[in-house]
Amino acid sequence: MTRYQQIQKTLADSPKTWLITGCAGFIGSNLLETLLLLDQNVVGLDNFATGHQHNLDEVKTQVSEAQWLRFNFIEGDIRQVDDCHKACEGVDYILHQAALGSVPRSLADPITTNSTNIDGFLNMLVAAKEASIDTMVYAASSSTYGDHPALPKVEDAIGKPLSPYAVTKYVNELYADVFQKSYGLNTIGLRYFNVFGKRQDPDGAYAAVIPKWTAAMISDEEIFINGDGETSRDFCFIENAVQANILAATSKQEAKNEVYNVALGDRTTLNYLFTSLQQSLQDNGVEYSQTANYRDFRAGDVRHSQADITKAKTLLGFEPEFKIAQGITKAMPWYIGFMKASG
Ligand SMILES: NC(=O)c1ccc[n+]([C@@H]2O[C@H](COP(=O)([O-])OP(=O)(O)OC[C@H]3O[C@@H](n4cnc5c(N)ncnc54)[C@H](O)[C@@H]3O)[C@@H](O)[C@H]2O)c1
Repeated sequence: MTRYQQIQKTLADSPKTWLITGCAGFIGSNLLETLLLLDQNVVGLDNFATGHQHNLDEVKTQVSEAQWLRFNFIEGDIRQVDDCHKACEGVDYILHQAALGSVPRSLADPITTNSTNIDGFLNMLVAAKEASIDTMVYAASSSTYGDHPALPKVEDAIGKPLSPYAVTKYVNELYADVFQKSYGLNTIGLRYFNVFGKRQDPDGAYAAVIPKWTAAMISDEEIFINGDGETSRDFCFIENAVQANILAATSKQEAKNEVYNVALGDRTTLNYLFTSLQQSLQDNGVEYSQTANYRDFRAGDVRHSQADITKAKTLLGFEPEFKIAQGITKAMPWYIGFMKASG
């Protein structure tokens, strides 16, 4: 039995209370679904800045009525400390996902990204400390590696941030460390590397590459690749990220107050990704015959990204179950259904 299987069994036998901030978003709603299926009590906090009611509605269809009754949703804003205090009441573990993602969004509006990702994060730390929660796991980011050239990325070797978004995620790590030293609050930062899967928003100017291209292919629209297409990323299927969160929250004390890479340890180029999505759609009966259009590299983007996941494997027992191809295969029917439903 893997550590993840053991923990799932322990939690199902003895439910805990979890707070998921950003629960109406992509990662948050997937965490919500998994925890409710494990009969956990879940408090959710979201202001619908980028999340959607339809994500929560969909989770409701995936769990039993009794499980859904274990969910208490608070519509609120992490920039309001009172909302954070209210959400933390009686909570064992926090999975803090609420933030404004996207490098380009942060370049267009650094002030709102800063207030959400830094002020909101600090509010959550204060509320977590005062509520004496067990552990706060938070969404950190691979963008913290910035301009450091080493590959694969190892947690201790970071460079200078390349965008306002990256600054905010790095500041989160600094604050978490200081709260541990100053107040004894347990935190774990999960540096996600390009997470993808069902319910990742394909709409809007700041959509991530996999949902954006998939939706464009289904609608037979043009696709643009920034740069020569040999830019690479370590794409991480959502179920691997969910596993990392649950393992982190329930980890032993010596694994706490650390940051971990959450990825596969693989590198996929944008050119390869384009072909893989095209192929997967074809397997689902959707033809996309256009070729990709190449344009300039995008400001703030790093050229290559690949994680070393030894630390998460060793200290958390992280064993990512899904490679990128399996993740795409699992996510594709959802995207086809979503695009049909949204006309
Ligand atoms: N998806 C990725 O590949 C990736 C990579 C690295 C880090 N992350 C981080 O993971 C977390 C979740 O990302 P996601 O992809 O699910 O994004 P998402 O936009 O789908 O989810 C974020 C959620 O936070 C909510 N939110 C935003 N501001 C809020 C506020 N002020 N108060 C309350 N709720 C607020 C949004 O409404 C949304 O539901 C974020 O912290 C993001 O920075 C994601």
